Amino acid sequence: MTHRFIRTAGALLLAVSAVQSFAQDFPNRALTMVMPYAAGGPGDTITRVFAGAMQKHLGQQIVVDNTAGASGSIGTAKVARAKPDGYTLLMIHVSHATNTAMYKSLPYHPVDDFEPIGRATSGPMLIATRNDFPAKNLQEFVDHLKANGPKVSLAHAGVGSASHLCGLMMMNALNVKLNEIPYKGTGPALTDLMGGQVDVLCDQTSGTVPPVKTGKIKAMASAGKTRLPQLPDVPAISEAGVEGFEINISFGLYAPKGTPKPVLEKLTSALQKSVTDPDVRQRLEAMGISAVSADLARPEALRAHLKNEIDTLGGLLVKAGVKAN
Ligand code: MLT
Repeated sequence: MTHRFIRTAGALLLAVSAVQSFAQDFPNRALTMVMPYAAGGPGDTITRVFAGAMQKHLGQQIVVDNTAGASGSIGTAKVARAKPDGYTLLMIHVSHATNTAMYKSLPYHPVDDFEPIGRATSGPMLIATRNDFPAKNLQEFVDHLKANGPKVSLAHAGVGSASHLCGLMMMNALNVKLNEIPYKGTGPALTDLMGGQVDVLCDQTSGTVPPVKTGKIKAMASAGKTRLPQLPDVPAISEAGVEGFEINISFGLYAPKGTPKPVLEKLTSALQKSVTDPDVRQRLEAMGISAVSADLARPEALRAHLKNEIDTLGGLLVKAGVKAN
């Protein structure tokens, strides 16, 4: 055995035992969960539900950090650059996939710069209007959009966001062009919809179901083939003869690339305990969202889901000629 070999093997053993003792101690201080959209929106609500549940299982506080802007890419870049020690996490949905197609100079790679931890939720979307919008039902809504086109404003959370994809699919399906108003998240968009400053918003049900129930906005249709159990009197868009327009949004949790495997395993285990937690499931269900099964709250399931969204949805935006920069 040469001296060089002994030195290299010794250094390797030291590195392995340092990772093992780091992982054993993990977490020994507060974690940060970055939500790259504004406070008050569906992503924020979902992140806070999971931060609350996972902190119970990890035994340390989880602080939610809303770093919003540029369709979620600013907060996502922050996590890509963070130390890969498991203390900084990212909760994100479809924009992790669509931003690759939208931004020419994205400061991170959605696959190569992250470690997937697992999927968290899956949920439908709802088309809503301000309360005094001049349409009382789905047919009047479709007729109004077709007759008025760009005089109608459509709020969304930026190019490639869930609300943008939904609005785009709706405009394509109805063959209309509305006046798009981008926000840093559907939290502020919803505030303006309730205030009557914008006309239409298609948002995840965790954003729209509560204000519909309290009469602050009007529901026009669920964005798919079926009605929502939470709003059984609201038709599905397919009931107006609009076909091929169905959208479902799933959130997932990531860590920066290079986070040690035993740390990732602890995080996945905490996520799995959270998705099966009856309190989490009940709180999400009231907003029309499902926590995924423990089997989907795994890295492989999130990796496959992201790949599928990159292959399908990014292409859809490119085909529609949508560009962010
Ligand atoms: C948000 O939390 O603001 C939304 O997830 C944005 C969106 O994608 O529509």
